Amino acid sequence: MFTDMKDGTREEWMHIAAEHGKHQVSAAPKQIMESLARLDAIEVGFAATQLGHSLMAGTLARRSGASDEEVVAALCHDLGKLFSIPNHGAIAAEMLKPYVSEDIYHAVKWHQEFQGRYYFEHLGKDPEGRERFRDESWYAFAEKLVDEWDAPAFDPDFRADPLESFEPEVTRVFSNPKAMIT
Ligand SMILES: [Fe+2]
Repeated sequence: MFTDMKDGTREEWMHIAAEHGKHQVSAAPKQIMESLARLDAIEVGFAATQLGHSLMAGTLARRSGASDEEVVAALCHDLGKLFSIPNHGAIAAEMLKPYVSEDIYHAVKWHQEFQGRYYFEHLGKDPEGRERFRDESWYAFAEKLVDEWDAPAFDPDFRADPLESFEPEVTRVFSNPKAMIT
């Protein structure tokens, strides 16, 4: 096996691509479940931890009859907060990107702009920033994600489904990449 990429042969790269593919489908669901669990340590001032919030959002999506990809988007839309708050939507969207539709990717990426309706006035930002996306194919789903599943998901008395109950959806979505880039 090469020690410098410039020396790699086609055979070696085919082997590496196959190994990456095996890792991707076997590791991703477990990594996502473990990452979601770590959200319980992030409180950041809300009435629920970020895990509690994510479970409520996922539960609301599930109870509305959403697809696996949509439930997983609701469950994972704030996963980026494990690494960075200001761009957490974009981080979560990139984590989801190989596994979900383009519309879901964009809705997760821009969910903070849609949430702005509820609090941007307090931060000196445009609460209707979502309007610049009005003509996008994903606008309606972004409204559903934010207005129906994300924004109402801060009630500590809400009986959300437990994290383990989402393992089937997480496994189905994160075991099935639509694209593979080594
Ligand atoms: Fe959220």
